[in-house]
Amino acid sequence: MTSAVGGYAFGDSAPAARRLGLLADVFEPPSRAFLAEFARVAGDPVDLAVDLGCGPGHSTQLVASVVGARRTLGLDQSGSFVALAEAGAPPGVEFAVHDVTVVPFPSPPAGLVYGRFLLSHLPDPPATLAAWATQLAPGRAAAGRRGRPDPHHPAGPARLPGHGGRPARRPRPQPGDRR
Ligand SMILES: C[S@@+](CC[C@H](N)C(=O)[O-])C[C@H]1O[C@@H](n2cnc3c(N)ncnc32)[C@H](O)[C@@H]1O
Repeated sequence: MTSAVGGYAFGDSAPAARRLGLLADVFEPPSRAFLAEFARVAGDPVDLAVDLGCGPGHSTQLVASVVGARRTLGLDQSGSFVALAEAGAPPGVEFAVHDVTVVPFPSPPAGLVYGRFLLSHLPDPPATLAAWATQLAPGRAAAGRRGRPDPHHPAGPARLPGHGGRPARRPRPQPGDRR
């Protein structure tokens, strides 16, 4: 068994990185379709997309290529995953070590906050989603893909309230809103 990184059950060893490479290949089509739908609805390219729990960077590169944000930032708690991700990063794609349960993120407000295969590894998904919403530019979206319940996760298939792949939006300010 690999050592855990923080609360992440699979660790950040070389086999763990290879496992994420295989998962990325398998889940690329539905993830690509999900992100393409976001890009279609968003219209203009966003300034910043943030990929939470980016691992070795597969999901971040997918976000960058499909969403076409001016800048894409991947955040992960694992220094070795972030180093792997940085090694293959194209222009406009950056990475940083950060515990994504902690806000603020080391970035300006984001046009998209995305996380793939992350929420089921975090202790309090509803509170974490609420914290992520505070990191959005007004009117922008937080979106997550859990994929199929992971049968290998020690906690078993996750049940995530309010998280069915639907985006959580930060409302646009309305006239008369208190700031
Ligand atoms: C299943 S992997 C998904 C990687 C990537 N999103 C992908 O789809 O290939 C989950 C990732 O979340 C990271 N992670 C787990 N808890 C975290 C936390 N609190 N802060 C930052 N990263 C975290 C792990 O280190 C791991 O890289």
